[in-house]
Amino acid sequence: MAGEPGPSQEATYEAAPNIALVKYWGIRDPVRALPYNSSLSVTLAGLATRTTVRFDPALPADRLRLNGRLADGEPLRSVREFLDRVRQEARFDGFAEVRSRNNFPTASGLASSASGFAALAGAAARAAGLRPDAAALSRLARFGSGSACRSIFGGFVEWRAGHRPDGRDCRAFPLFPPDHWPELVDLVCVVRGAPVKTVRSAVAMQASVATSPGFAARQRALPARLLRIRRAIARRDGARLFPAIIEECDDFRAVCEGTRPTLDYLTATSREILEAVRSLNRRSGRPVAGYTHDAGAHVHLFTLRSDLGRLRAALAGIDGLERTRTLRPGPGGRYVARRPGR
Ligand code: ADP
Ligand code: DP6
Repeated sequence: MAGEPGPSQEATYEAAPNIALVKYWGIRDPVRALPYNSSLSVTLAGLATRTTVRFDPALPADRLRLNGRLADGEPLRSVREFLDRVRQEARFDGFAEVRSRNNFPTASGLASSASGFAALAGAAARAAGLRPDAAALSRLARFGSGSACRSIFGGFVEWRAGHRPDGRDCRAFPLFPPDHWPELVDLVCVVRGAPVKTVRSAVAMQASVATSPGFAARQRALPARLLRIRRAIARRDGARLFPAIIEECDDFRAVCEGTRPTLDYLTATSREILEAVRSLNRRSGRPVAGYTHDAGAHVHLFTLRSDLGRLRAALAGIDGLERTRTLRPGPGGRYVARRPGR
């Protein structure tokens, strides 16, 4: 067996979730993990997954300890499938113990699958003796969770869908570094009573492909919208960026709501937050902020530091808003050295 690891080959990798300003929603080739459309995201500082993988020939099966508890069901199944891919690439058999922690809510629309599979990719690849560069790691992470391919990189990241059937032109890459636009902030609104998702986005999005009447029109609108969003970020132009991300988020939500059975990720509080932003922008006569959300109830509000006070004031009195956190674009994934004596 080529590359069979020693008795305890271990590696730890840390990665942050990302919030998509242009959403990935639809898989054109599940075997090669190829999306229908390109997407664009911001990797977030402050939220993180840290994962340690240890291959151990004595283990009878792969084990996953997620947030301190032994996992089973879907989370364990996904991790095992992913480890199978790594084992195949590294050409060895041997089970692994995976210990992972998210320092933010799991499976509630804050992209734990993105940071989770980016962290797993990094840790598993190195523990298995592979030495992928960032591009190869991103490609590997994509097979665990599509959005994970963006979390390998920091700052503003694009995942280009490509056109080739073999997927060789499908890749994620950094567009702008984390400090590209120091004024820009993401006020994350954590809403009370956000349900834990029981169906992964990768499954839900295929129901949209098959049944949502708006899916085809969305595909046609996306290239020009992505260009506008990329350009607004390049020019650090909030007045152009905020309306464009609202348009994209509303389109994504309409496609979800048009899916049969319908996909409704928001709570009444999430909807109140969206309305508060629309109303603030109307009253101010300019785009003070833009909103977006993934497949979950929590909402991300993008604004400039100078408008943060105004935005917070507009949210005052929304009962179900549990807490807010101001986040900034952050770095990509990184290896964490083992602490001495462990
Ligand atoms: P989210 O919005 O948090 O990405 P999803 O339902 O799309 O929610 O994905 C959550 C799933 O991702 C979990 O059920 C689990 O299978 C996987 N996941 C989350 N965190 C981790 C982690 N740290 N390590 C491995 N898998 C994880
Ligand atoms: C709405 O790639 O995270 O967040 O692996 O099942 O979690 P799972 O799917 P994932 O889907 C992301 C969907 C999205 C949009 C995005 O992040 O681009």
